[in-house]
Amino acid sequence: MKAYIETFGCQMNESDSERILYLLENMGYSKTSDISDSDIIILNTCTVREKAKNRLYGHIGNLKKLKDEKKDVLICVGGCASQDLKEKIIDDFPFVDIVFGTMNIPELPKLIEKRISTGKRICSIKEEGFDYNIFNVSRACKFKALIPITIGCDNYCSYCIVPFVRGREKSIEPEKIIKNIRELAGEGVLEITLLGQNVNSYGKNLDKPCTFSELLEKISEIENIKRIRFMTSHPKDFSDELINVIREKDNIVKHIHLPLQAGSDKILKEMNRGYTREDYLNIVENIRNIIPECSITTDIIVGFPGEERKDFLDTLDMIERVRFNRAFTFIYSPRAGTKAAELEDRIQPAEKRKWFKELLEVQNRISYGENKKLANKKFEVLVEGKSTKGNNMLEGRMENNEIVNFKGDKKLIGSIVPVTITEARSFYLMGELSNEKSAREKLVIGAD
Ligand code: 5AD
Ligand code: SF4
Repeated sequence: MKAYIETFGCQMNESDSERILYLLENMGYSKTSDISDSDIIILNTCTVREKAKNRLYGHIGNLKKLKDEKKDVLICVGGCASQDLKEKIIDDFPFVDIVFGTMNIPELPKLIEKRISTGKRICSIKEEGFDYNIFNVSRACKFKALIPITIGCDNYCSYCIVPFVRGREKSIEPEKIIKNIRELAGEGVLEITLLGQNVNSYGKNLDKPCTFSELLEKISEIENIKRIRFMTSHPKDFSDELINVIREKDNIVKHIHLPLQAGSDKILKEMNRGYTREDYLNIVENIRNIIPECSITTDIIVGFPGEERKDFLDTLDMIERVRFNRAFTFIYSPRAGTKAAELEDRIQPAEKRKWFKELLEVQNRISYGENKKLANKKFEVLVEGKSTKGNNMLEGRMENNEIVNFKGDKKLIGSIVPVTITEARSFYLMGELSNEKSAREKLVIGAD
């Protein structure tokens, strides 16, 4: 029996899909990338923006033909959009067999058995629950691992649907995380990414509280883990203690993803972000003072209700001041049930698109400028796979998360190699394999 899993959205969903695959493999399914050959199809969905939801509807619609031709194939829709839309998916798509929520993954095998034995279509959505096993995972990659450390979110940023579809924030016990990472190190995993909506608030609700900095420090002592990434950091909970831990430990990457969302104090307040532009600039200054080579990336939303041209210019100003290595930019998308969805929004979509384009132009210029500073320097690169840029070309990631393409043998995939940057492009770098062993060089970012 074959299982086809398609994952939409963020790394948390990718991690959930790895848990889903584990459960399916235990039921006797094996993974396939050929949908027409599958006996079960799982769509693990995203609803963070309306567009993601619309695309999902197109995707599910496309499965009708397949189901008509192959009546026995089970079509299951899980993830954040299921949690949000619940029975609506079952009602809108009569050929969908199972709809399950973000907190219903552990019971998926039971739901599948029930669907097969009773013939009844199922919608199972829990509103709260924390049956979370980080060990039972069928990982997509042998040398990189995603590790959720907090699930859910308590911040209630006013635009965000995540707290409604992922539940309240809960932390996984440090002992479990450490044990899991030790096992992974023993299996040859080189890079781990700790995941949470706000990793900085890790540990608050544990019986024995443990801060994120303490957790990171413990993890960094595990032998053979070469790179520790984490995301997402929230500026309101970002501590100097954390910056110091990142500096001290060689295997914690010098890269921080720190979503700014907006550069105007008025909009930050409306977004319920809990910091001002000055607070944010102070954090950046501290990071740059303590770890000059640290790269900083961000998320920005354009066109939040009530945002005026002058607020948008504040965002541009912040981008110029901070000189982010990269920004993930989004046009505001109202999500039903959130506070911001109730706010009056007078800016026309065409105007928002214009601002968005302006933002991209500024950021692309900065990203390109920052990448150019890396030319002729040598860095450690984790080789992730073959590159699309040409024959015999490989693709890898630098510590700062930038992609580098370079010529090399595919047997290097899964190892860390030294690469000298030969050329910067806006969205990636070109490089050359270096023969020398040590590649660790300081890269000073943000300062000309
Ligand atoms: N509209 C647009 N972007 C959003 N994000 C979250 N909610 C919305 C929304 N309603 C963005 C934020 C967040 C990223 C993952 O998605 O920038 O950091
Ligand atoms: Fe959403 Fe804010 Fe939580 Fe991030 S921190 S998931 S933006 S509510």
